Amino acid sequence: MTNESLTLQFRQQAQGALSLNIAYIGVVNGLFATLERLGSASSQQLAEQSAMDQAYVLRWCDAAFAFGYLEEHALGFRLSPSGSAMCPDSKETLMPIAIQSILSAHMAERAAALMRTGERPGESTLAERTTVLPWFGRMLEANFSSLFNHTILPQIPAYAQVNQQHGLVVDLGCGNGWYLRSLAQHFPHLRGFGLDGFAENIRQAQEKSQSSGLANRLQFHCGDIHQLQLPEPVQLIAMNRALHHVFEKDPETLIDWMLQQLTPGGYVVIWEPAWPNDRSRLHTPALRAMSFQNLSEHVQGNHFLHPEEIRSLFSRRGMQTSVSLFNQDTEAVIVAQRATMD
Ligand SMILES: C[S@@+](CC[C@H](N)C(=O)[O-])C[C@H]1O[C@@H](n2cnc3c(N)ncnc32)[C@H](O)[C@@H]1O
Repeated sequence: MTNESLTLQFRQQAQGALSLNIAYIGVVNGLFATLERLGSASSQQLAEQSAMDQAYVLRWCDAAFAFGYLEEHALGFRLSPSGSAMCPDSKETLMPIAIQSILSAHMAERAAALMRTGERPGESTLAERTTVLPWFGRMLEANFSSLFNHTILPQIPAYAQVNQQHGLVVDLGCGNGWYLRSLAQHFPHLRGFGLDGFAENIRQAQEKSQSSGLANRLQFHCGDIHQLQLPEPVQLIAMNRALHHVFEKDPETLIDWMLQQLTPGGYVVIWEPAWPNDRSRLHTPALRAMSFQNLSEHVQGNHFLHPEEIRSLFSRRGMQTSVSLFNQDTEAVIVAQRATMD
């Protein structure tokens, strides 16, 4: 590649990042959502209706117009198709891409400084940006709930069995609770208990289960996975993108604890990004993003796992295990079943 074409490539990438920066501001401050509701508005009306500062909103509108999120309209501005795509409540919202881009920039800056000392401050780094934290759960829901509902859920018979037993599913590291809500919507007899370390996630999970009419079957609590005491034996323990968060601490004790909680024949269902054995696969676009995320996981005291590494943790304890790969082999679901008789 010539220097000229490299310059062009990097400038285009920089413009892409700027565009997502502008989108992020509009998402987290409700500017896209407000403009969608109003249809069209001046920057002043948009500021008033979204309860934001007028001078900031004026500058944002100019930039959002420059990057094609807004179109000029007789009364001021209206959303373009790419602006509509950033509305967080739209069915196929692209909001997660904007949230992820700012979270990634934050984690890159943290990794750059921490590499000098080797410190790994842990989960708290995610909460350092106050505007990001409330969007973390929603970002994961928008990214993964469709894959779960349409592809993963129909392939895991364990859920229907738990439903027949009117059983309890425990979701460790439940985020905003979207997974238990999906299960409860599909299976009318299944009950759920979700635990997460971030109070904001639990607040959103409780609010959503109330508004979806599922609060009689779903409970959510804030706390640490390592301190959890469950009120009754459990038919299924799920962890979605959460096992790698606790893996470096003491996975063996955690797995033993899970086995003690399960009823005979009960299940553990783990969903994790599938870290490849072969480094050359990291070149593919989906895994390229995962390789960056693994660096940001390192800051949090975590690292991604090979599916086989997870499976063997459970099979070593005499559990029946299976591994299924989804989404071009980037997502792994490991199901482990406790024997019906020990
Ligand atoms: C990547 S998120 C996944 C959230 C959710 N399972 C989902 O799929 O949307 C990992 C979650 O695990 C939670 N977590 C990590 N370590 C935890 C711990 N020790 N106790 C409770 N929650 C924890 C984090 O707060 C975070 O919400």
